[in-house]
Amino acid sequence: MYLDFLKVVVLLSLLFVKGLSRQNSTSAGNVTIGSIFTKTSLNGQVADIAMRAAVDDVNSDPRILGDRTLVLSTSDSNFSGFRGIIGGLRHMATDIVAIIGPQTSEMAHILSHLANELHVPLLSFTALDPTLASLQYPYLIQTAPNDLYQMTAIADMINYFGYKEVAVIYTDDEQSRGSMVALGDRLAERLCRITYKAVLPPELNATIENITEVLVQISRRESRVVVVHAFESVGRMVLKMANSLKMVQNGYVWIATAWLSTVLDSRPSSATPSEVFEGVLTLRPHTPDSAMKTAFFSRWKNLSHGSIGLNPYGLYAYDTVMIIAHAVGEVLRSGGNISFTHNPILSSMRGSLSTLRTFDAGEQLLDNIKNTSMTGLTGQIAFQPDKSMIHPAFDILNVNGAAGYKQIGYWSNYSGLSIVPPEELYDKPANRSSANQQLRSVMWPGNTKVQPRGWVFPNNGRPLRIGIPKRVSYELFVSMDEDTKEISGYCIDVFLAAIKLLPYTAHHVFIPFGDGLKDPNYTQLIDSITTGAIDAAVGDIAIVTKRTKRVDFTQPYIESGLLVVVPIRNQGSGAWAFLQPFTGPMWAVTGAFFVMVGIVIWILEHRINDEFRGPPRQQLITLLWFGFSTMFFAHRENTMSTLGRMILLIWLFVVLIITSSYTASYTSILTLQQIPPSIRGIESLINTDDPIGVQRGSFVRDYLNDELHIPKSRLISLETPEECEDALTSGRVSAIVDERPYMDLFLSNYCKFQAVGQEFTKSGWGFAFPRDSPLAIDMSSAILQLSENGELKRIGDKWLKTQDCSRGNTEGQDELQLISFSGLFLMSGTAGFLALIIYLCKVIVKYNRNNGQATESTTPRNGAARTTPIQRFLSFFDHKEEDLDSRSKRKHSEVIP
Ligand code: SER
Repeated sequence: MYLDFLKVVVLLSLLFVKGLSRQNSTSAGNVTIGSIFTKTSLNGQVADIAMRAAVDDVNSDPRILGDRTLVLSTSDSNFSGFRGIIGGLRHMATDIVAIIGPQTSEMAHILSHLANELHVPLLSFTALDPTLASLQYPYLIQTAPNDLYQMTAIADMINYFGYKEVAVIYTDDEQSRGSMVALGDRLAERLCRITYKAVLPPELNATIENITEVLVQISRRESRVVVVHAFESVGRMVLKMANSLKMVQNGYVWIATAWLSTVLDSRPSSATPSEVFEGVLTLRPHTPDSAMKTAFFSRWKNLSHGSIGLNPYGLYAYDTVMIIAHAVGEVLRSGGNISFTHNPILSSMRGSLSTLRTFDAGEQLLDNIKNTSMTGLTGQIAFQPDKSMIHPAFDILNVNGAAGYKQIGYWSNYSGLSIVPPEELYDKPANRSSANQQLRSVMWPGNTKVQPRGWVFPNNGRPLRIGIPKRVSYELFVSMDEDTKEISGYCIDVFLAAIKLLPYTAHHVFIPFGDGLKDPNYTQLIDSITTGAIDAAVGDIAIVTKRTKRVDFTQPYIESGLLVVVPIRNQGSGAWAFLQPFTGPMWAVTGAFFVMVGIVIWILEHRINDEFRGPPRQQLITLLWFGFSTMFFAHRENTMSTLGRMILLIWLFVVLIITSSYTASYTSILTLQQIPPSIRGIESLINTDDPIGVQRGSFVRDYLNDELHIPKSRLISLETPEECEDALTSGRVSAIVDERPYMDLFLSNYCKFQAVGQEFTKSGWGFAFPRDSPLAIDMSSAILQLSENGELKRIGDKWLKTQDCSRGNTEGQDELQLISFSGLFLMSGTAGFLALIIYLCKVIVKYNRNNGQATESTTPRNGAARTTPIQRFLSFFDHKEEDLDSRSKRKHSEVIP
């Protein structure tokens, strides 16, 4: 691009330069240097005075150039890039050894191509576009810190004050564009960014309308941190208009690049009341205090005749002349000549351009310049191997009413922001840690010491629209009362507590999301932020990767990971659980041994013990009774034989062991042992084909499908905890996968389920904001504060108190339940019932027999009271069986003598 432009320029030059009579100003005793400045510009004026002073000083010191005289040939570019380039060509046509300037970067880009070809070094302290430092322009040396450093300083300041978003106003020229790229890069390194670029027409073409338009645009944006990088006169217009639009006021942060400090230094009294930019921050190249500098400041009044104040660019102008003079002196001392030869490319051209000649010692001069090591008005002067100045540093100024400005600190490329001059730090190890960054207090626009927060809600007073999920299950987290429309829940309380901690008021309205019939889709809720339908989303929203790519989340306010929940399978349930301690063969053998012991004891005792004698039926009963009663050590019959006692002793020991083992085993079955579930975590769940329950609307469904490759056909959407319970109990799903906060509530209500395996994701819930929203950062700090002061826990305790299944809410889990013994009770009850029936039958049979005999023998004779059959039965039941037997026998003998 530049080469094309160069061609145009060269053609134009043919016209302009034609007729230029060649003036060889480098006569034997003169060394000529050129300068290209806009003489009416602030820096042009300051530089002109300073350069002339330097030329005088060089010429009055023969140690520098010996008997040669340094001559300064000036050219006025008059705010025009074109004139600047023509001025450069004119200089080169007069055999100059170096050019100071040009003033602006667009000229520098073009002239540096000529400088490369003609070996004429260009030294500029005002064309500070960082791209000019490139290796493409070896003959261009920037003798003041270039804008890369100024932009780094601004980025450090923005970072220091904690701002994340910046709006910039700059003129659309090479100087500013390159600087804005550098600022963007430096901000990005500090996780900040330029959110709005307001571009003004280049050079002096910006009108009040242009400026008003960009300022109105800025006032509508979120960021209240504005950087102004422009030519001095345009910059002043911008701040003036901003002042009249009441934008240099409370809430705004204005950072003007070094143009403003040059105005403050050079024209302190020119400011009208509308140009008192109270609270604006600006930078000024830092030049260490020294006797030389003080002397030059004292001399300045005479030099300038009070026309303009000295600013650092005057010092750089002086030093630049000195750099060239010393370098030329070196060339001369080393035997070099100030001579020029025809350039082979140009000499083939016709016209005046063929008269442009190459400086023979240009390369040596350039080397000498790059190797400069001297102390000047600006301090130590030397260049890095990449041509940049050593120790670039800036003063940081705060415009402060009548006093002009107050210096609040320094920035150096060595140690960043400090309140001590950088030269005091160069001997110490560099320390750019954030703890070491310091500035003094700032008086901000609006005459306040309270630091502006740097952004406003972009909606200009409209309350923030906060989307909330209209949940139908787990309403403890977020819910809306359909009648009162009141929004409440754990997440809402956390949000309200956090927003109260913000250092400003954030008016908001809740906008329910969902139809209220089923849980809404949370991913769609997040999408509403990106479409601008809502300004933020608050609720039980999981911070998951896919979402973080679209919105910014606050710090998590509750932990949440995914859990697998399955039913507990307990061995000890069921009517016949008491049989479980023993296997079938064990029960059979134990029963057989009870009978066998009875038989053995009967054989041993039968002949000697009356208790084992009697009718065969009775003996059989005794045998069985004896055998089984040993189970409880409740046998009543005495054993008389020695062998019998021995057998009994051994057997009782065996019974002791069997019963205690049974007791222990049965207790353990009923209280402790649960059958290990076949699903033991997410891994084993993935390996089955079982259906899995997931919450409707949750990210879990997509996560299981996309990340864990579980087919969608296995994923069953469930809504309420009741539906989950039913699905797990009925076996419709084998497991449920959901986030811990939901599952904690679920498990505390349904103790028959358990979580298996570890939480297999680690995440949390946060509030979602649009990307790069400063509110997200402030809310994160507020959430941390809530966590530190215990408020978060209190809100959690209020809403999410869960019951512990292992204690108060065991409900039939660990106790021995009636059902476990129902078999035994059924057996014993049935036996008792049957015994009663049998006994009753036997009594009725006996009664009928007795009653029949009594009717035959006793007929009422003389009207004695007659009794009913029920009375007679009760009377019969009331008498002892032996007595009845003997009475009936007696009556029978009376009737039949
Ligand atoms: N917490 C879930 C999600 O964020 C909703 O249940 O998707």
